[in-house]
Amino acid sequence: MKVIAINGSPKVDDGNTARILNSFLDGMKESGAEVELFHTRKLKIKPCLGEFHCWFNTPGKCLHDDDMGMLIPKLEEADITIYSTPLYADGVSGPLKNLIDRQIPRGNPKLEFRDGECRHPPCKNQKPGKLVLVSSCGLWEMSHFDPVLVHMKAYCKNMMWDFMGALLRPHAPAMGFLDERGEKYDDIFEAAKEAGKQLITEGMMSEKNIETVSRELMPPEEFVDSLNELVQTIFQAMKK
Ligand SMILES: Cc1cc2nc3c(=O)[nH]c(=O)nc-3n(C[C@H](O)[C@H](O)[C@H](O)COP(=O)(O)O)c2cc1C
Repeated sequence: MKVIAINGSPKVDDGNTARILNSFLDGMKESGAEVELFHTRKLKIKPCLGEFHCWFNTPGKCLHDDDMGMLIPKLEEADITIYSTPLYADGVSGPLKNLIDRQIPRGNPKLEFRDGECRHPPCKNQKPGKLVLVSSCGLWEMSHFDPVLVHMKAYCKNMMWDFMGALLRPHAPAMGFLDERGEKYDDIFEAAKEAGKQLITEGMMSEKNIETVSRELMPPEEFVDSLNELVQTIFQAMKK
């Protein structure tokens, strides 16, 4: 089983998102998946110029000559794609969005009606794709992920991929507060790892593991107070 994971966090392996993603990928590897991980920060991917050059001038080939040339065949071969991103302005990070947009050369310019909606037909030899979203956000509630979930589900519908679910970590800075206090919360990483194993061996992730990854790390009032205290400390240090 080939898995390609794209981490769109500029924090690369040191970020909140990577902490969940890496446990998830470890579980997949332990279950025999062939996993390749790419960090957008380390890739050169220019934004789409919107010329449709890849459809009408040089079919399948983009005007830009950058790392998408290396990535597209890997994305085409993957049985499972994982998009991993910090929540930025209620959506995916800019570099990940560029990478998503730049997959347009894979598409078919023609139109057809599918399930009562006008869409592009699947490409020749298109594999049945599967997508998982891994994301973390700064605010407390799970509802902040609603827009990115709507986006990923719509994207899967367009691509004729199965949306396999999402591992979401709200109030992610709470992890840092708990680390400072020496409090353990390993269960969320163990659940992410288990979810990775399940996805490979059973083709699904259990609700229990999904919920554990997102579980409350501290009450909202305590989180807000801790964060405001941190901000205050930083502001005071800046004045010195
Ligand atoms: C530019 C920017 C925009 C952000 N926008 C949101 C947002 O809309 N909602 C939210 O809850 N957190 C937001 N955050 C916080 C991050 O999503 C959060 O800290 C995340 O855990 C960072 O993940 P990382 O360490 O993997 O980069 C934003 C952070 C930055 C830098």
